[in-house]
Amino acid sequence: MEYVTTLSGVSMPSIIYGTAWKKERTADLVTKAIESGFRGVDTACQPKHYNEAGVGDALERLARDGIKRENLFIQTKFTPIDGQDPRDIPYDKSATLQSQVFQSFEVSKKNLRVSHVDSLVLHSPLESPEKLLVVWQAMEQIYQHKGTKQLGISNCYDVEVLKFLNEKASIKPAVVQNRFFRQTGYDIMLRKWCQEQKIIYQSFWTLTANPDLLANPLLQKQAQEFQKTKEQIFFRFLTQIGIVPLIGTCSDTHMKEDLDIFSFKLPHDVISEMKSLIDMTK
Ligand SMILES: NC(=O)c1ccc[n+]([C@@H]2O[C@H](COP(=O)([O-])OP(=O)(O)OC[C@H]3O[C@@H](n4cnc5c(N)ncnc54)[C@H](OP(=O)(O)O)[C@@H]3O)[C@@H](O)[C@H]2O)c1
Repeated sequence: MEYVTTLSGVSMPSIIYGTAWKKERTADLVTKAIESGFRGVDTACQPKHYNEAGVGDALERLARDGIKRENLFIQTKFTPIDGQDPRDIPYDKSATLQSQVFQSFEVSKKNLRVSHVDSLVLHSPLESPEKLLVVWQAMEQIYQHKGTKQLGISNCYDVEVLKFLNEKASIKPAVVQNRFFRQTGYDIMLRKWCQEQKIIYQSFWTLTANPDLLANPLLQKQAQEFQKTKEQIFFRFLTQIGIVPLIGTCSDTHMKEDLDIFSFKLPHDVISEMKSLIDMTK
């Protein structure tokens, strides 16, 4: 595994295992992913899409088998009410926003059976700048009380919102987790700004949203040259330009392939060519 160091000084794996949509298979798949070599997991306090307690079951099993929590990067999210299933909200929906954040985080810790997480991410910006700041300040309090080592934001495609948050925040966002696809021009401006601020960009939908990119002859050629799959070439490219992909494969073979990307390095000229592929699509 390779690691990047975030602006909060956290050592974060360069590829992270995503746990969405795994339901009752979550514990087994997370256990398998970590045993295969993943060292980071992404989850959320959002029962609609994530079985956070299943991740906790896996962490308990892994600890029993000698893989300690301290050696793992654990990331969870606070999901505002709009992103929750109204029939299954993991906090009191009539509580204040600040209290919802605290309640959600207590549920996360209980689900995961940890005293702290490595990264706490706001699942999406709120509908007003005022509400965004209330939530962020509650997350900052969790950080101050050592509940998390860093903060982040997800589904933030407007660079102005990110700039606003960054300017107002006492604890700056260390990660942005976004859907990586053509429709947003691969977040080119946002990523450039993030790079300047040393904010790390985590990608999702990386494979599913990019069949055209994966079919590009340039990737095919590199796949042949390195005797890897085009998905591995794409992931390797992303990690070499500082993007941390999230992947939630359920297949043993893909798990191994996704981890094997660190066994080779793409040369500079190939990286430049691949970069221009993304730049051209904006
Ligand atoms: N913040 C958000 O709003 C948000 C939204 C969506 C997702 N996420 C996070 O991101 C994680 C990843 O989600 P995702 O939407 O990117 O997709 P995903 O659930 O990881 O699915 C990726 C697809 O790629 C396939 N795949 C994986 N490795 C492969 C390989 N080496 N070669 C070929 N195919 C491969 C998988 O199939 P197999 O299972 O057969 O390998 C699967 O069909 C989630 O689990 C979640 O943690 C966050």
